[in-house]
Amino acid sequence: MSVQSNVEVHTEWGIVSARQAGRNLAKEIGFSTVDQARITTAISELARNIYLYAEKGEIIIESVEAMQSTGVKRGIKITAKDKGPGIKNIRQVMEDGFTTSGGLGAGLPGVKRLMDEFDIDSIAGEGTEITTIKWLS
Ligand SMILES: Nc1ncnc2c1ncn2[C@@H]1O[C@H](COP(=O)(O)OP(=O)(O)OP(=O)(O)O)[C@@H](O)[C@H]1O
Ligand SMILES: [Mg+2]
Repeated sequence: MSVQSNVEVHTEWGIVSARQAGRNLAKEIGFSTVDQARITTAISELARNIYLYAEKGEIIIESVEAMQSTGVKRGIKITAKDKGPGIKNIRQVMEDGFTTSGGLGAGLPGVKRLMDEFDIDSIAGEGTEITTIKWLS
C-alpha cells in the first residue's frame, strides 16, 4: 500500500497544509505523538525554507516500507523540491548557525537530527531536492 500527498508551497497556507498532511499520515502509520511532532517540525522547516529561499516548491509526503531481517519496517518519507537558487555549499548549510537570511541557521541541522535519513541534492541555479525518512521503531 502506498499513500502519497503532494502539497504545493507558495504561501504560508502551503506550509500549514504540508504540516497537516504530514501529521495525518504519521498518525495513520502509527507514529507516537512525540514522533508526529518531530515529523511536522521537520516538514515546517523544509516548507519554510522553500517559501523563504525558492519562493515556491512542493512537499511530497508518502509512506515507505523496507525489508529487514525482523520483517517489514514502515516509515514516512518527506521530499522537499524546488526550482529556486539552489545551494552552493551543502556542507556549510548543514552547520549549526549558518544562515543567509538572519535566521537561526537551525532548520536543516534540526531536520537531520529529528529524522533518521537525510539527503540533499542541489544544483546552484537549478534547485534543491531534500529527502528525509523517519522509520517506525
Ligand atoms: N530550499 C532552499 N533553497 C536555497 N537555499 C536554501 C534552501 N533551504 C535552505 N537554504 C540555505 O541554507 C541556509 C540554512 O538553512 P536553515 O534552514 O538551516 O537555516 P535558516 O533558514 O537560515 O534559519 P532557521 O531555519 O533556523 O530560521 C539558509 O540560510 C539558506 O541560505
Ligand atoms: Mg530554515
